[in-house]
Amino acid sequence: MRPPSAVRRSEHLTFKANLRGTRHGWLRLTPAYSVHLVSELLAEAPPDAVVLDPFCGTGTTALVCAERGIRAETTDINPFLLWLCEAKARVYTAAEIAAVPRFAEHVARALGDRAASLAWTPTIHRIERWWDEFTLQALGRGLAAIRALTPEAGRAVSDLLVVAFCRTLIERAQVSFGHQSMSFARGRGTALAAEPAAAVEAIVTAWERAVESVAQGAASPILMPPVSVLCDARNLRQKLPDDRYDLVITSPPYPNRMSYIRELRPYMFWLGYLRDGRAAGELDWQAIGGTWGCATSNVGKWTPEAETSIPYPEFDLLIERIAARSPLLSRYVHKYFHDMVLHAASLTAVLRRGGRAHYIVGNSKFYDVLVPVEYIFASIFEAAGLTEVEVRAIRKRTSKRELYEYVVSARKPA
Ligand SMILES: C[S@@+](CC[C@H](N)C(=O)[O-])C[C@H]1O[C@@H](n2cnc3c(N)ncnc32)[C@H](O)[C@@H]1O
Repeated sequence: MRPPSAVRRSEHLTFKANLRGTRHGWLRLTPAYSVHLVSELLAEAPPDAVVLDPFCGTGTTALVCAERGIRAETTDINPFLLWLCEAKARVYTAAEIAAVPRFAEHVARALGDRAASLAWTPTIHRIERWWDEFTLQALGRGLAAIRALTPEAGRAVSDLLVVAFCRTLIERAQVSFGHQSMSFARGRGTALAAEPAAAVEAIVTAWERAVESVAQGAASPILMPPVSVLCDARNLRQKLPDDRYDLVITSPPYPNRMSYIRELRPYMFWLGYLRDGRAAGELDWQAIGGTWGCATSNVGKWTPEAETSIPYPEFDLLIERIAARSPLLSRYVHKYFHDMVLHAASLTAVLRRGGRAHYIVGNSKFYDVLVPVEYIFASIFEAAGLTEVEVRAIRKRTSKRELYEYVVSARKPA
């Protein structure tokens, strides 16, 4: 099917639109979808609906629900994202918000204290590409100060400081967000040597701005905080009850070789969610569509379980055409949909009878082979026993010509 000509690059349906929001703009993840889209899909939520997002990411669905007083539960395989979602969608008391500047002032002093002894910094591979040595040390001092203040500040205030820290570290990193995923702003070289006083002044300024914006966002009302659960979407039943959810609004990873671990590694290393490259690869191997480190070599050795076939009629042909150019990529695509078949079975179990699911997905192209991700999802949902399956094109993506975003919707029979 050709997407309707009216489908253009709709910026209001992307993460960029969220930046203008309050809490939604706290941290950036390129594939986050928009508040507008979630709001539109929530319009059909019955009163007292329970909404599920099995691929939480930065928590867009959960936060929109929280702001509107809709009960939401969300899962992800990445503990850092669940922490972020919890921090983003929490109710902060006036006393907690008022305390933020006071504690932030201590952190600012630590950031600026160039005479302090050497601080801990994470073992990110070639960290010098991210931050010059003065900025790196200032960040180390800032994080140590936040950790030291946590017992007195309490978890909620400390989380706000950590969110502001994450914003600061990414603002002062030499990375660019010009493309779908982050890249180094000055090519693959090392960070430019900075003048120590200037580096420290820049980071203190970035910190103060981040704190102000995070505290402002935290003051916005939350009517019902979501529940977030660490869970593999291929086996939702391990943690979630059957027949519970009225509405699912989610955006799974796309089969586009993007690695969330790669994108999130600066935050995850600093906050202790990752300790080395090996752990990063192992977590990405658990993620659907992961490609970082050992995830790629594992895909190379992967073979499908005999009982899990992909119900899309031309799937084998598609896979063969990709395999003719790259056996590794064809395995990657095959495994992605294999994992989605497992996910669809557990989704069907946890949906309430009559419940509806909306999946925002993007199609992909490998060499000259266009992978109709939206129709493969539609056939997977049908084979899992869902009905009223519909595909709607919503947005042209900025990258290659034939790439679009779709909402694939389906219902569990009543
Ligand atoms: C496209 S992102 C979701 C973006 C989200 N809608 C937002 O607004 O930020 C997909 C998410 O799926 C998660 N994910 C990947 N594999 C998973 C798995 N096996 N189980 C649960 N979550 C998984 C990733 O960690 C990532 O956060």
